[in-house]
Amino acid sequence: MKALITGATSGIGKSIARSLSRRGWELILTGRNEEALKELQQELGNTEIIAADLAERSEVFKVYGFCREKNVDMLVNNAGYGIFGRFDETDLEDELNMINVNITALHILTKLFLRDFKKRDSGIILNVASVAGFMTGPLLSSYYASKNYVLRLSLAIYEELRRAKSNVSITVLCPGPVDTNFNNRAGVTFSAKPVSAEYVAEYAIKKALTHKLFAIPGLTIKACAIGQRFIPHKLLSAVTYNVQKAKERTDGDGR
Ligand SMILES: NC(=O)c1ccc[n+]([C@@H]2O[C@H](COP(=O)([O-])OP(=O)(O)OC[C@H]3O[C@@H](n4cnc5c(N)ncnc54)[C@H](OP(=O)(O)O)[C@@H]3O)[C@@H](O)[C@H]2O)c1
Repeated sequence: MKALITGATSGIGKSIARSLSRRGWELILTGRNEEALKELQQELGNTEIIAADLAERSEVFKVYGFCREKNVDMLVNNAGYGIFGRFDETDLEDELNMINVNITALHILTKLFLRDFKKRDSGIILNVASVAGFMTGPLLSSYYASKNYVLRLSLAIYEELRRAKSNVSITVLCPGPVDTNFNNRAGVTFSAKPVSAEYVAEYAIKKALTHKLFAIPGLTIKACAIGQRFIPHKLLSAVTYNVQKAKERTDGDGR
């Protein structure tokens, strides 16, 4: 069995790579950091790598082209990041790049692999959203919105596959805070204790391999995902604002 994992150079993606490798899967790993890809390739063996910046649409197609004839059984759309700050203050170019990675690259790869998987009536898609996908997120507004996209797209595809009685499956991973490089890149500090990337990866892979729609690790995060439905939008936004505000860095590193 073979999987393509985006964002495999650190955090959740790297842990997913290790989790699948332990199960005997062959891997195709991608990310921008070629050195990190080579290190992981050496560690795991049975792995191909392709460095790519998924903010560039041509690079997304390059990754697909690299994989096309390689009989990929699982697509893991994991690459992504957040940008902290008030919407009128955050940099437009940075945000458009983030949208390219979090939404456009995931959209393209999901569509192209889904078509291939449907032709042979097998294959697994694991899309990494976030518990943020269930909510609005003042101070991380476009990140939250991007994860809403990933969640809603995945839910819609799940229903289309179910109606078509397809053997192709889609799982959407919605973690809360995870101990990775995410914070540094977003310029925040977690206010809640994060769980480990290893735990989240193992949990997600178990759910994906058993064709579950949702992978929501941890009771508190499950409660958030369910509980938010019963809270009025404006109140939920006010609560989320306070949660995000508490993450703001005061050490000068953050925004
Ligand atoms: N950590 C959390 O609390 C948390 C919670 C919920 C959801 N998530 C989601 O989990 C996923 C993985 O994040 P993480 O927490 O593991 O953070 P991370 O350690 O920062 O990993 C992010 C990965 O995305 C890749 N990436 C970023 N920009 C890219 C680009 N332009 N082109 C290609 N690859 C790119 C990075 O690779 P390179 O730097 O090598 O390009 C890296 O491998 C993301 O989608 C994130 O939104 C994280």
